[in-house]
Amino acid sequence: MQLFVFISDQIFETVNRIRNLNNIYLIGFMGAGKTSVGRILAKSLRMGFVDIDDRVEKELGMTISQIFSKWGEDYFRDAETKMLRVVSGNGAQVIATGGGIVLRDENWDTMREYGVTVYLRASAEVLWNRIKHNTTRPLLQVEDPFEKAVEILSRRIPLYERADLVIDTENLTPHEVSLEISEKLENF
Ligand code: S3P
Repeated sequence: MQLFVFISDQIFETVNRIRNLNNIYLIGFMGAGKTSVGRILAKSLRMGFVDIDDRVEKELGMTISQIFSKWGEDYFRDAETKMLRVVSGNGAQVIATGGGIVLRDENWDTMREYGVTVYLRASAEVLWNRIKHNTTRPLLQVEDPFEKAVEILSRRIPLYERADLVIDTENLTPHEVSLEISEKLENF
């Protein structure tokens, strides 16, 4: 019984320490697992969870593909930047971002001001295998989507690598990635 109380005290202390870092922003390319890992991480840390793409879709009443085709990418990026700012001020949450959040300096300013950034890293091949059958990503609706993904990823890698923490996700399940994030944040 005493041991149980001691262990739960320790877990409580760890969870509180991580929550004090404020928001945890998951960044990375399409297919990196930001949403699935985010849900698990939020649950384990007893924090709220928000997915920026999801919120933008709800706010505008359209899917990301519809927003891109009706209004264009810049319009989507503006909505994404605004939504990031809105959800960032809502207390300690795990926030799954869209893959392009790293493109704007003002998004970095928001993420740095309100929390810690975690890059879920994987190779182009692994990412491609996870997203190749999905048609909801407008940037990849081109003749050679793999080539396009490689091109976008290589341009973005230096941006993703600016994150406070980098997690190599390739051989890990979402639960394992979530656990590794908690462990690294403990010593952050
Ligand atoms: C994008 C990634 C998507 C979504 C949009 C643009 C990108 O989010 O925001 O299609 O530029 O990488 P996911 O990373 O959740 O797929």
